[in-house]
Amino acid sequence: MKRDLISILDFDEDELGELMRDAEHLRKLRKDGTAHEVLRGKTLAMIFEKPSTRTRISFDVGMHDLGGSALYLNTQDLQLGRGEEIRDTARVAARYVSGVMIRAYKHSTIVDFARYATVPVINGLSDREHPCQLLADIMTIREHFGSTLDVNVAWIGDGNNVCNSLVLSAATTGMIVQAACPPGYEPAPDMVERANALGGRVEVVRDPLEAARDADVVMTDTWVSMGTEAERDKRIKAFQGYTVTAELVKEASPDAIVMHCLPAHRGQEITDEVIEGPQSVVWEEAENRLHAQKALLVKLIGRNK
Ligand code: CP
Ligand code: NVA
Repeated sequence: MKRDLISILDFDEDELGELMRDAEHLRKLRKDGTAHEVLRGKTLAMIFEKPSTRTRISFDVGMHDLGGSALYLNTQDLQLGRGEEIRDTARVAARYVSGVMIRAYKHSTIVDFARYATVPVINGLSDREHPCQLLADIMTIREHFGSTLDVNVAWIGDGNNVCNSLVLSAATTGMIVQAACPPGYEPAPDMVERANALGGRVEVVRDPLEAARDADVVMTDTWVSMGTEAERDKRIKAFQGYTVTAELVKEASPDAIVMHCLPAHRGQEITDEVIEGPQSVVWEEAENRLHAQKALLVKLIGRNK
């Protein structure tokens, strides 16, 4: 049976732990210059409906490091852009490649793709989730605190796709999540409910200072996610007071780290002072996309076909 990564909850606690150890090992091999071409002859198709810097580069370089290759496919250049059905594209692509990473507007596009593709499918971001980001974030938090268990994470701002994956991950990582969001911008209620039903500790609050108080991690993301640009002005107004400032970070634990999946909008969700400051780990976090996804590719594609 092929495995997909559509949601961060597709991997249980043990699998996540194993993936993190593999990612840490792969990082060491890369830093030591030791070849690890375990996916020689394998190909990853990367389908993008939206722009990307980190996801695109890290998957492409990751496949190269592993001895395989990656194909960058923009939907506008595919027949998908002219109305070919997802299920037809999925069945055809699966006959050429060993796995597919897909970034789509609608989560259901990725779910449909995975249903019809006979090879592993990876969610490279949808309107509901961004599981690959969480893999890198979990790796970064482990690096700093040795473990994710009982780590207090304050999410400040939009309860978007990244926040939803963070919320769900509370069920498998032991992290305690407090999300401070303005009305109408909370994480998906079904995800909060699911995480808590599975033993997660997730709470949604309004006050950013309350969420940040004694937090080990302060995390944020853009106020205007891809696909919400038409609401830009309304959103910028709604998120006033939800900027990660130096004053807000002072509320957190003295050795707290500040995370952002990037791209960042200085002066909106985070100040220049904070993102450039000593508590910011955003560049390591971005680097960890590469190591975590390489472990993921080995796990999913290495055992398939
Ligand atoms: N964090 C992230 O997914 O970045 P990109 O949109 O640049 O891929
Ligand atoms: N929430 C952002 C994440 C970008 C990586 C978006 O969906 O645009």
